[in-house]
Amino acid sequence: MNLQTLLFEPREKVATVTINRPDKLNALNAQAKAELRDVFTQIKTDSNIDVVILTGAGEKAFVAGTDIQELTALNAESGKEFSSKGQEVFDLIENLGKPVIAAVNGYALGGGCELALACHIRIASENAKFGQPEVNLGIIPGYGGTQRLARLIGRGRAMEMILTGNQIDAAEALRIGLVNKVVPLTELLPTALSMAQLLASKGQIAIRMALKAVNMTQEATLSDGQKLEASLFGVCCDSEDFKEGTTAFLEKRKPAFKNK
Ligand code: COA
Repeated sequence: MNLQTLLFEPREKVATVTINRPDKLNALNAQAKAELRDVFTQIKTDSNIDVVILTGAGEKAFVAGTDIQELTALNAESGKEFSSKGQEVFDLIENLGKPVIAAVNGYALGGGCELALACHIRIASENAKFGQPEVNLGIIPGYGGTQRLARLIGRGRAMEMILTGNQIDAAEALRIGLVNKVVPLTELLPTALSMAQLLASKGQIAIRMALKAVNMTQEATLSDGQKLEASLFGVCCDSEDFKEGTTAFLEKRKPAFKNK
């Protein structure tokens, strides 16, 4: 794949995708969004990759938003299309079927905050800043942010971030549950990698079913979500990994999962 705006490094079971426009603080232009779609489409079916780390190039920004240059010509019709197309890419990440860890290494503003929200786990460096500053441009978040932020941190806090456009620092993001962990910048990628390796060491059928079940809380009633949980639990019980996991526990040894 010939990528202009991303770096894609598939290694043993863990792939790292880096948004690579540091001179523009990794702002997402049309090409970056198209390349994200292509890379994540490939990752989805690549059986050698179990976990993905998503980060930004440089020490200043994860992603400082969608590329504001490309917003200026939008009208009602093209604006709706712009938002829907972006949502499709972020939905692809959320529904990848493999864990995606956002390693947020600086500004995560607008589409950058929304991109982190579409990931399954967020680890931030101490210098990270989060915000939905779209109101300052006369628009609202358009890549799922109004929906995912409220579901993650609650409607009141999401409303405040989206209505004020104010930035919050990493410590505040941790306090309100927007990120899972905050570490010094030098520790960010090593921490994300050790989390990724931990997830890759599990049985991947169970990981996949867990992602599906927990993602379902975005839209299901408790009762429908529990029905889905029961059928996914059943799928796990039919796997060799389940037999291996339970047998290994009883035999007091580490399981050797085969993802079958
Ligand atoms: N779209 C396009 N270009 C962007 C951008 C964005 N979202 N964010 C930053 N850039 C560009 C700047 O235009 C500048 O380019 P230039 O060097 O060619 O002039 C470069 O990235 C560096 O940004 P700069 O603003 O000079 O850095 P800073 O340290 O002074 O400020 C921010 C950093 C993040 C506070 C500031 O860049 C900013 O507010 N960005 C926009 C954030 C935003 O509104 N995002 C939501 C978009 S919907």
